[in-house]
Amino acid sequence: MSDEIKKGLAGVVVDYTAISKVNPETNSLLYRGYPVQDLAANLPFEAVALLLWTGDLPTEDELKQFQEFERAHRALDPNVKQAIDLLPTDCHPMDVGRTAVSVLGANHPKAEDSSPEAELEKAKALFAAFPAVVAYDQRRRRGQDVVEPNADLDYSANFLWMTFGEEQPEEVVDAFRVSMVLYAEHSFNASTFTARVITSTLSDLHSAVTGAIGALKGPLHGGANEAVMHTFDEIGIRKEESREDAAGRAKAWMEDALAQKKKIMGFGHRVYKNGDSRVPTMKAALDRMIAHYGRDEMLGLYDGLEAAMGEAKDIKPNLDYPAGPTYHLMGFDTEMFTPIFIASRITGWTAHIMEQRASNALIRPLSEYNGPDQRELPNG
Ligand code: CMC
Repeated sequence: MSDEIKKGLAGVVVDYTAISKVNPETNSLLYRGYPVQDLAANLPFEAVALLLWTGDLPTEDELKQFQEFERAHRALDPNVKQAIDLLPTDCHPMDVGRTAVSVLGANHPKAEDSSPEAELEKAKALFAAFPAVVAYDQRRRRGQDVVEPNADLDYSANFLWMTFGEEQPEEVVDAFRVSMVLYAEHSFNASTFTARVITSTLSDLHSAVTGAIGALKGPLHGGANEAVMHTFDEIGIRKEESREDAAGRAKAWMEDALAQKKKIMGFGHRVYKNGDSRVPTMKAALDRMIAHYGRDEMLGLYDGLEAAMGEAKDIKPNLDYPAGPTYHLMGFDTEMFTPIFIASRITGWTAHIMEQRASNALIRPLSEYNGPDQRELPNG
């Protein structure tokens, strides 16, 4: 392999971005200059979305206007419902999310208009429309009907309302909101880069988001939050078990898995080597959910895996590690975790689509050929 080749583009800086800054040395993440933990502590997700798109925090009026828009555009689109109903209930929910965005694009009156105004309008509409897709998909798999949105509730509370058909306690809504803020944006990760590659060909916004969803699905990226829960399930969740006993079983599982050279989902990161900047905030939200639901054994499993991984390989958890069990405690089915990530990352993806569009260059790298030399076709 040539010295010039950077497998996985590791360490390669491909463009500028003003949307977020990841600093692995200080384990920090800024959205448009603001520390993500401060945003998660203080702002509704709708305000963070506007910040990512426009570059500045919204005024009270701007936020109110957007919240009204979101409330007016959050009902499940009938075309989307029809398309979802054609899909089997045992397909992966990420396939449903990918299809839904495609259908929304095909039906959007400004699908082919890539002016900054139209792009922002489409981003806002997608933000508002997607939670109903996740909520309906989870419900239909449980044999339940659509729950109409509740205009008295904000984005996060309504997301949970449409999923579970019941208003959730304030602390649950808040933990969900925190997860949405933390998942929203993370510079040139695989799915965002996918969205930028698609945009660079001058394709449309919905195509770029659809492609990004495909990239997010994989367990090395967004699919890790679902995979974390499969690990917990494999170890076995025993309600009422003591924290110590659960931790002991988790440690034994981890030692065995590492001896078999398994990749453990929810640990490690391409950019952060000393810990993911988002984990402390998400872990605090998970702790609140564990206390709220009285599920100490989950903390035992969490701590046991983390400690064993730390001792064996000094590899730290990433955001997906605390997010997975948090969504589980809230009552989401495991396969819905990555579609929830879509609902959040729509903000970051569409901000990058707009940024790419504003100073576009076709993304088209080179490769070094290592196949056979030129040869002749066999006679006859
Ligand atoms: N479990 C076991 N070993 C690991 C892990 C892990 N989760 N992560 C890294 N390592 C080891 C890896 O085996 C390798 O060891 P060696 O040098 O002995 O071969 C070394 O650490 C470097 O790993 P790498 O895979 O070359 O590092 P990378 O920068 O290419 O990978 C990663 C980053 C995220 C793909 C990887 O850590 C991983 O596969 N983690 C599990 C999947 C996961 O949790 N993904 C979510 C990523 S963050 C949030 C998101 O995007 O959703």
